[in-house]
Amino acid sequence: MTISFEEWKAGLESRSRRRELLRRDGRPQFVLMSQQFRREDIDSLCDTATSVRRLDRHVDGRDFLRSLLRGHRIMNLFAQPSTRTAESFIAAAHKLGADSRLVSDLRTSSFSKGESTEDAVRTLSSFFDAIVTRHQDDEFATRASWALASSGRPIPLISAGCGKSQHVTQSLLDIYTLRYSFAERGGIDGKRVVVIGDVARNRAARSLAYLLTRFERPRIHFVSPAAFAPDDALLAYLSKHEVEASVHSALGPLLRELKGDVDAIYVTRLQQEWDGGKNGIPDAGERGSSDEYVLKPEYRSLLRPDTVVMHPLPRVNELPEQWESHPGFMVWRQVRNGMWIRAALFAQVFGADNEIRSRAARLSLM
Ligand code: CP
Repeated sequence: MTISFEEWKAGLESRSRRRELLRRDGRPQFVLMSQQFRREDIDSLCDTATSVRRLDRHVDGRDFLRSLLRGHRIMNLFAQPSTRTAESFIAAAHKLGADSRLVSDLRTSSFSKGESTEDAVRTLSSFFDAIVTRHQDDEFATRASWALASSGRPIPLISAGCGKSQHVTQSLLDIYTLRYSFAERGGIDGKRVVVIGDVARNRAARSLAYLLTRFERPRIHFVSPAAFAPDDALLAYLSKHEVEASVHSALGPLLRELKGDVDAIYVTRLQQEWDGGKNGIPDAGERGSSDEYVLKPEYRSLLRPDTVVMHPLPRVNELPEQWESHPGFMVWRQVRNGMWIRAALFAQVFGADNEIRSRAARLSLM
């Protein structure tokens, strides 16, 4: 394929062209953004994740899963810190029998000698069957996918978080968690979701908002400091997809106004690593959200017991530990779901998902 990087980026902006560029043989080849997923893709991915989870409960199921990607090698290239995402990708690959390698200090790679993204990923494609990347540059995964698509070995690439723009696999696990939580309440369609925090710079919150457009008429209330409110492009996309969205500057007044009519609250931390400081890590005294963006324990009386409370983690002060006893607290389930959804994604990428769902159905595990 001969296409310039500018044409690749422009193609990703177009709904029909995006699908053509990011998929191969009917499967996702490059996983970069929430907008590339249709409702049927999400449903199929979530069903596969449930099948993996249920097969994993039995010895035979675990042996079957481990046979699927035997001999495959996955490179996890993480230029930014990670606890959950990196380890859950590694655990997911292991569940399906693939080997993983993690490079989390790019000073040990030839990036530190000035090697280009294009040369680096083309080199890695000689030794690996897929690349998972996390990077501080908003365009890193886009450029890396273009480089692979333009090469003789276009191996799959999955973004594990890209700058301030998107964290697509986090939003997939968040939707999987919401789908599970609302299984007995009519699913995600029509639900009211409050998103708290630094929406402008929180890639998990942004990706979740984009992915919610694939459901029928959800309502989203963003609660952010003015400087970190959702950007116009995101709000325009929500409006185009008939998602009712509003922006607020403080949480307490909004919860009082909604009188308990909240189905889910998605709490995020302020992304202070983008503010500069020493190595981009703020001093402990500077970390954390101000009162207006903290889900205070006293707000429990303003919410129903079944209001789902989620956070992509890591957290600082914005979701106090007292919430862990709230019946709708789903944060640790989100963490575990990260492994199942990433295993399902690997299965889709490598064409093993139909086999997984069939095996689970045969064993009446669905
Ligand atoms: N949610 C998330 O991306 O966590 P990590 O930064 O620990 O991977």
